[in-house]
Amino acid sequence: MGEFDGKVVFITGIARGQGRNHALRFAREGASIIGVDIARPVSDYTTYTQATGEDFDETVRLVEEAGGKIIARVADVRDSAALKAVVDEGVHQFGRLDVVVANAGICTWNRFWEMPD
Ligand SMILES: NC(=O)c1ccc[n+]([C@@H]2O[C@H](COP(=O)([O-])OP(=O)(O)OC[C@H]3O[C@@H](n4cnc5c(N)ncnc54)[C@H](O)[C@@H]3O)[C@@H](O)[C@H]2O)c1
Repeated sequence: MGEFDGKVVFITGIARGQGRNHALRFAREGASIIGVDIARPVSDYTTYTQATGEDFDETVRLVEEAGGKIIARVADVRDSAALKAVVDEGVHQFGRLDVVVANAGICTWNRFWEMPD
């Protein structure tokens, strides 16, 4: 018995880092995962390497290896229509949505009012 048996969790930024760990942990606790990631460089202003398609695929592999179900799609969280389409697809497939983990994000040191979208 997992703590999230039968639950459905939507997670943004699943390709690596904390998002990958959230996906894996929820899957191990019995949840089905709806996940998105942009899986390419997001910004010219970050000073670190950004997530890739290989990272994205590895998260899917790890979740499935753990016995979890996952609908993973490449999408940008700044694109509301794309996010809605993924959530709609996931809810259609899994029948419900219980938890949202708004994890995707980047770290930059620019002034907020000078940052582009
Ligand atoms: N690691 C830390 O110490 C720390 C501290 C404070 C806050 N955070 C926040 O926690 C979250 C996760 O951090 P992390 O260390 O795992 O970062 P990470 O860079 O390893 O992972 C973030 C993921 O979000 C994805 N992402 C970024 N912008 C996106 C977009 N527009 N659309 C879709 N996907 C997008 C990236 O591709 C990446 O896979 C981030 O929001 C980060 O800002 C992290």
